Amino acid sequence: MSVLLTGGAGYIGSHTAVEMINAGKEIVIVDNLYNSEAKVIDLIEQITGVRPKFYKEDCCDKKALEKIFSENEIDTVIHFAGYKAVGESVEKPAEYYRNNIDSALCVIEVMKEFGCKSIVFSSSATVYGSDATVPYKEDMPTGGCTNPYGWTKYMIEQILRDQAKADKELSVVLLRYFNPVGAHESGLIGENPKGIPNNLMPYIAQVAAGIRDHLNVFGNDYDTPDGTGVRDFIHVVDLAKGHVLAVDYAKNHKGCEAINLGTGNGYSVLQLMRAFEDVNGIKIPYEFTPRRAGDLGSCYADASKAKELLNWKAGLGINEMCRDSWGYQKNKK
Ligand code: NAD
Ligand code: WQD
Repeated sequence: MSVLLTGGAGYIGSHTAVEMINAGKEIVIVDNLYNSEAKVIDLIEQITGVRPKFYKEDCCDKKALEKIFSENEIDTVIHFAGYKAVGESVEKPAEYYRNNIDSALCVIEVMKEFGCKSIVFSSSATVYGSDATVPYKEDMPTGGCTNPYGWTKYMIEQILRDQAKADKELSVVLLRYFNPVGAHESGLIGENPKGIPNNLMPYIAQVAAGIRDHLNVFGNDYDTPDGTGVRDFIHVVDLAKGHVLAVDYAKNHKGCEAINLGTGNGYSVLQLMRAFEDVNGIKIPYEFTPRRAGDLGSCYADASKAKELLNWKAGLGINEMCRDSWGYQKNKK
């Protein structure tokens, strides 16, 4: 039996592939390489000594998915595939709704056709919307998303919840990630944004590498200890390990569960930047600029449900996150 990782050549998918293989699981990857490169499959092999079976296909192509399911015994899907750039989703909403919703629906339909009964979905803390109060807990209302990307996550959660109601044999785990950062300690795989990074950690890493001359800190007037935004940064390897446990959990349970994957701790933009400077011995020049539209002051998880249901807890701290983000960035030079 194999676990299918859609979007498995991407940032979180590739780290999950490594942890799945390390845990002795058989995996198959499908990715259209829209936001990743084929060489990631070689790198997964280099890290683990095992080459995952790879299909370069689009998850919106049902025929292609049917072929994958007919050639492999897939008992669980981890559905990572999707577009994820918040700002771009505001510019190109139709493309985001089409790709994210269509790929999820195709995966769900083909799973049904082949009797595959468990799915782990890459959701996001963004589903809690702008009115939620920290720490975010899974039973809080969702919705009120501030951008089309967030709405795609909200809608796919609803689709999967309905699907689990209709099919009592189905097991759905909605993993709500907080802010994944860091990279595999080998420095071989990591986050490789195209163009100017939108997210904080890759931006800091590019300033450290001399690619950008300074960090713009978006807002210093939030109601937080130092006025800058507070986030629940989580090491991508911890996140990946959470998926391994979620797959096991999904196989032994029915119904739909939403689970936060965060550390439960909030760090501010300045705290993260200073940790990066201290750990790596590199100065990061910065300037304060106005708040970025749509940003929240504080966002962090109540991480107790993941501990309770998956026996998962983040093990790596902010120093490892900064060390490994730089380790990957340095390797790319
Ligand atoms: P990523 O862009 O690195 O990985 C996504 C992968 O999916 C890419 O390799 C891309 O080529 C592939 N893909 C996209 N559309 C596809 C399609 N139609 N068919 C096949 N492959 C397709 O992103 P990531 O950071 O690894 O995120 C993985 C998932 O986690 C996404 O669903 C994202 O929305 C979600 N998520 C990410 C974050 C984050 O901050 N990185 C936070 C919360 C949730
Ligand atoms: C973090 C903090 C910024 C860049 C996004 C998505 C979310 C999820 C994770 C997918 C904020 C500040 C940033 C910069 C800065 N993705 N910042 N200068 O916005 O919390 O979450 O990624 O589901 O949906 O919205 O992450 O890394 O962009 O920002 O000051 O150049 O860093 O204002 O306070 P965010 P981020």
